[in-house]
Amino acid sequence: MNATRDSSDPQGEPSAPTGANEAPEQVIIFGGSGDLTRRKLIPALAKLDTNPGLPTGFSVLGVSRTEMSDEAYRAHLAERLPSNLRSVFDRLAPRIFYHAADTGSAEDISRLAGRLDELPGGRSSGRLFYLSLKPELFPVVVDSLGRSGLLDVWKSEEGFRRVVVEKPFGHDLLSARRLNRELHRTLQEEQIYRIDHYLGKETVQNLLGFRFHNAIFEPLWNRHHVECVQITVAETIGVENGRGGYYDGTGALRDMVQNHMLQILALVAMEPPATLAADAVRGQKVEVLRALRHPFDVDSCPSLVRARYGPAEGVGRSEGESNDVSEAMARGYLEEEGVAADSETETYVALRSHVDNWRWSGVPFLLRHGKRMPARFTEVKVQFHTPPIHLFNRPEHIAPDEYMRLLAEGALTRARPNILTLRIQPEESIELSFGVKQPGNSMDMTPANLRFDYREHFGEPSADAYERLLADAMLGDQTLFLRSDEIEAAWEYADAVRADWMRPEGPRIMEYPAGTWGPSESEALFGDSQGCWSRG
Ligand code: BG6
Repeated sequence: MNATRDSSDPQGEPSAPTGANEAPEQVIIFGGSGDLTRRKLIPALAKLDTNPGLPTGFSVLGVSRTEMSDEAYRAHLAERLPSNLRSVFDRLAPRIFYHAADTGSAEDISRLAGRLDELPGGRSSGRLFYLSLKPELFPVVVDSLGRSGLLDVWKSEEGFRRVVVEKPFGHDLLSARRLNRELHRTLQEEQIYRIDHYLGKETVQNLLGFRFHNAIFEPLWNRHHVECVQITVAETIGVENGRGGYYDGTGALRDMVQNHMLQILALVAMEPPATLAADAVRGQKVEVLRALRHPFDVDSCPSLVRARYGPAEGVGRSEGESNDVSEAMARGYLEEEGVAADSETETYVALRSHVDNWRWSGVPFLLRHGKRMPARFTEVKVQFHTPPIHLFNRPEHIAPDEYMRLLAEGALTRARPNILTLRIQPEESIELSFGVKQPGNSMDMTPANLRFDYREHFGEPSADAYERLLADAMLGDQTLFLRSDEIEAAWEYADAVRADWMRPEGPRIMEYPAGTWGPSESEALFGDSQGCWSRG
């Protein structure tokens, strides 16, 4: 972000060159009065304003339908701001403005041009349009912006126009393709920044760093050494706060697996890119997504469990209990506001996936996401093969062949596998488990861990994902944004999973009590692999 420093920077940093790497002087947020703007975008911009600093002739324009003055808008943004952000917000506030417009109206959008010209950074060399809107409005707004000439300069000496598109990007392959086509009518692919906020998380980016900077792991990172990979995104929240209507038409597969989880999987499984250039990285991720086996031709063990949370057993419904939080925690999905009484929407999905390529052939990638689980955590577990011969922790007086037979029958516990756990949130850590000899006269092994903790090591929490993503979009770096073919490949896989469960003989939707780990049937997805679903 050094490029955002202006030429009066007291540290004497050179001002940014013009062109793709120059920060915009205007950020225009459609959906300016919305929740995302208040919770994430404005705090992220305010923090970027202090470190590394936004240009002095910089402005933010919130655009929404409600009539409001600039002052009222600033007050609205400040209303729920955490106290630690107060001073950074106050510094940015004079450069925040508001414009009331009906985003569906081409006329209103064309009037925006005049307003932007009047603001600091007006007729600027760089404008970033952020679409935090209902998805059906994405093409409408882009079309109107295009017609009014606001997207004309897309990459030249005079500057650039970029568009950030929030999720959801389509709800299946067809709609995603249509949306890509519609955007491409007005925009070049280099102008489009499709958000997946998981890519803005420090620990998700570290998947790349960890794999391709530490040469010791690469020789192990394949089917010869890895038994299975487990990826979990567990949440304690349900679909409270009026999200039921949206969620009921979406479900866990489309809301979390198609985007965030497949992105994590792609980073874990991809080949090393030749460089860290956006298209080198994204090209390797697409290869992984395209190699995902469609679940209906999967191996003999079950590959799919879907479920929704039912009422909690014994939580918050005791006599005299009027606590809203407990009430919400105790509700079943079908009781949530906005959810159809006969809904078949899943809030939990567990998948056994395969990446059918040279590196990963035969290694199951076990994905699980659920709402209203007992704990919130996101992690990747890479489980390595156990040794071919088990020398330790063997009962005495068993002949080797008898021992192997008992192991195969599951009558004896196998050696514990080495597991590398990459914890993405809420703790941010990396842990490697291994066995050490238990002190004493016998040769018994006991598990131990090597652990790295981000916060302990760096002494401060990671920046919010939106801070990094906004910074990159402003600088014109598309590495952490989804390319059109990437999003389509992910939808192709998600559609195939859905098609599988829509078959009459496909897996029925199950129910798990809110606050539990989901149906026990999911354990069968491990097949012959040792192990079970992580509980954080
Ligand atoms: C969003 C989903 O994309 O990600 C939500 O729509 C989910 O349903 C959220 O709760 C999780 O994000 P995070 O960063 O809290 O893990």
